[in-house]
Amino acid sequence: MTQVTNTVRFVLDGKIVEAQGVRRTTTVLDYLREQLHRTGTKEGCAEGDCGACVIMVGELNAAGTGIDYVPVNSCIQLLPTLDGKSVKTVESLKKSDGSLHPVQQAMVACHGSQCGFCTPGIVMSLVNLVQLKPKPARNEITDALSGNLCRCTGYRPIIDATEKACEPGTGLKLDDSADLPLLVEIRRATTPTLSLEGDIIVQPVVRTRKGNEFVSPATVAEVADYLVKHPSATLLAGSTEIGLQVNKQFTRPEHIVYLGNVTALKQVQDQGKHWRIGAVVPLSQIESLVAQAYPDFAEVLRRFGSPPIRSTATLAGNIANGSPIGDTMPCLMALSATLLLRRGDKTRTVPLDKFYTGQKQTVLQPGEFIEAIDLPKPQGSQVFKAHKISKRFEQDISATCAAIRYELKDGKLKNVQLAYNGLAPSPCRAPLLEAVLEGKAPADVQAQDLDAAVAKSFTARDGLRATWAYRALVARNLVLEFIEEHTSEVA
Ligand SMILES: Cc1cc2nc3c(=O)[nH]c(=O)nc-3n(C[C@H](O)[C@H](O)[C@H](O)COP(=O)(O)OP(=O)(O)OC[C@H]3O[C@@H](n4cnc5c(N)ncnc54)[C@H](O)[C@@H]3O)c2cc1C
Ligand code: FES
Ligand code: FES
Repeated sequence: MTQVTNTVRFVLDGKIVEAQGVRRTTTVLDYLREQLHRTGTKEGCAEGDCGACVIMVGELNAAGTGIDYVPVNSCIQLLPTLDGKSVKTVESLKKSDGSLHPVQQAMVACHGSQCGFCTPGIVMSLVNLVQLKPKPARNEITDALSGNLCRCTGYRPIIDATEKACEPGTGLKLDDSADLPLLVEIRRATTPTLSLEGDIIVQPVVRTRKGNEFVSPATVAEVADYLVKHPSATLLAGSTEIGLQVNKQFTRPEHIVYLGNVTALKQVQDQGKHWRIGAVVPLSQIESLVAQAYPDFAEVLRRFGSPPIRSTATLAGNIANGSPIGDTMPCLMALSATLLLRRGDKTRTVPLDKFYTGQKQTVLQPGEFIEAIDLPKPQGSQVFKAHKISKRFEQDISATCAAIRYELKDGKLKNVQLAYNGLAPSPCRAPLLEAVLEGKAPADVQAQDLDAAVAKSFTARDGLRATWAYRALVARNLVLEFIEEHTSEVA
């Protein structure tokens, strides 16, 4: 186990790449294209939307015996996050005899490519899919492609190509046997470095001459210590917000603290009545976690961005970013999620519905961060419903997203918790609407009472994605649907 300061080390096709003297905000895409001349990976939008830049990023599995891959939008990932990981680009697919991967061969055979600009990204999304699902269902193929835009070919030949590639005996698995020992060799340290006095020293991956740093700690203690010493440092989790700020607003944070190597923050703990979800558990994992308990929450997550976004984006990043149209917060608020916040060695818990103090304003103190999210498990006869309204079904931002939790006792709605995004400066509960519902039989709930509560609760404002009249109508109708849907399910 070695660690080289100012050098980002990652494995690429059976070789260790040592990237020296890179900036802390160099993107993976720029490095691949400009330094390694891997120009198969394209830049379309530089904001995670088009999928032309999709590559596969691998990490050693927990046992250290294999490599787990995820699809990633390389345009919004910062190069130093690759330290200790492995990468596959479209060039990696060519076999030693020069033949193509079955997905590429099928794309040719099924005429799945015209101008070809989107094709490497599409191929990488599909190759990633078939590593885990050698026989994907049609909906799994379309989901895998939901973050890849193709302007000219149309998706039917691409879906046909995927099905053809998955015919028996085509050899879909990538051979990464040469990468595995190298990944073990460059594995990052898992314990903090301590000075002779016992103080934590966080080794930067990158440090500039001006003293700006990209650090990638291994433990919560190191993160906490670093943030107390550098309270204005920028936390980096999945990079699906920060990457945009770097590319589109040319933000250059002085100190960046990457959380993706902190093992404890990557874990979900079963704590009896709730799950404790670490701050860098990716949304794709949470989608599986809640699939049985809260299918509507899983569906909101399935429609969140696209697979390459969900493979890195986190709940904590969504919450801390505090966008008024952040999608996970209505579900989490309706379910009474709480946040475990840490500053130094002190922790406190804050209910998510008390976390925001205004638009993008939170109760977080300087040097404090979200360590975990506690998500209660379903209790008794509790009903949970959620739905996201957006112009496009996939890869789109909400006009509004609503979530409700209630019980039906003696035919009456009890313990109602309702939350929205898109209606106020931050995602929030709707106590006046909850009061309209509380104690009533679903059939007795009047639309005009809900309308009046919406009007009293929120300031009317038209937005880019929807007029206020539309949002207010949707806010009311979703509630009616949530209570009617369940009543007809149990009838
Ligand atoms: C193409 C695309 C599609 C998207 N689709 C959706 C969508 O459908 N719905 C939606 O709601 N959002 C969407 N987003 C926005 C974004 O993906 C989410 O907000 C995501 O959850 C951010 O998480 P992250 O881990 O990537 O955050 P990062 O970009 O790493 O960080 C975001 C912010 O949170 C802070 N932060 C991160 N972790 C912590 C922590 N532990 N404690 C305190 N602060 C922290 C960072 O400093 C930063 O200010 C989309 C973004 C893109 C680019
Ligand atoms: S270039 Fe469009 S998603 Fe990366
Ligand atoms: S083949 Fe031209 S954009 Fe897809």
